Amino acid sequence: MDNKSYQDFYFKKAKMQGYRSRSAFKLIELNKKFNFLKKGIKLLDVGAFPGGWCQVASQNVKNGQIIAIDKKKIIQIKNVKIIEGDFLDENTKKKILKFFNSKIDVILSDMAPNTSGNKSLDTIRTNELCLSILEFSKNTLDKNGVVISKLFMGEDFEEIKAYAKKTFQKINFFKPNSSRDNSRETYIHCNRLNS
Ligand SMILES: C[S@@+](CC[C@H](N)C(=O)[O-])C[C@H]1O[C@@H](n2cnc3c(N)ncnc32)[C@H](O)[C@@H]1O
Repeated sequence: MDNKSYQDFYFKKAKMQGYRSRSAFKLIELNKKFNFLKKGIKLLDVGAFPGGWCQVASQNVKNGQIIAIDKKKIIQIKNVKIIEGDFLDENTKKKILKFFNSKIDVILSDMAPNTSGNKSLDTIRTNELCLSILEFSKNTLDKNGVVISKLFMGEDFEEIKAYAKKTFQKINFFKPNSSRDNSRETYIHCNRLNS
């Protein structure tokens, strides 16, 4: 499928199924592969605007707690606590910890910086965000918890992989079909923190 057909296909599909973004299908595929959206979990979704992933999480996580964070304002979603703020800001992190008041079961990040047009710079910035999620998870994730984060194939890919391997017992990479072929984007799935 060429890029334009791809965009049209997932755009229409999202519209028909009532999702706010095409990204929703990436989380559906990720969950099919790794099965982490479960009853009663505490789930954090970072870089959540406009809310496609949160919609999928809200549909699948019954009796749990979900927080969605983005610098942009997200319109309310059923069963989701929304925090408008920069994840890199310590105050935002404090708000997350206060709300959950215990370890988190699943941390998701689809964070992406504003694109600069410079592929190399965009890759570095995206991967810095991925690293900030892995670092945050070290002290906040339940020891059997799961982290899934967007990252880009690029110069610092190996560095992130090494950091994740040191921090978690198991890591995998997965690129959903709904992620464009010509995009450098992939997702890292990490579980079970090393103690
Ligand atoms: C690809 S979009 C996320 C799409 C979303 N997963 C969905 O399903 O609708 C990436 C988002 O990351 C957010 N973002 C980037 N850096 C951020 C940061 N430091 N803190 C919070 N959000 C951030 C952007 O504002 C943007 O809305």
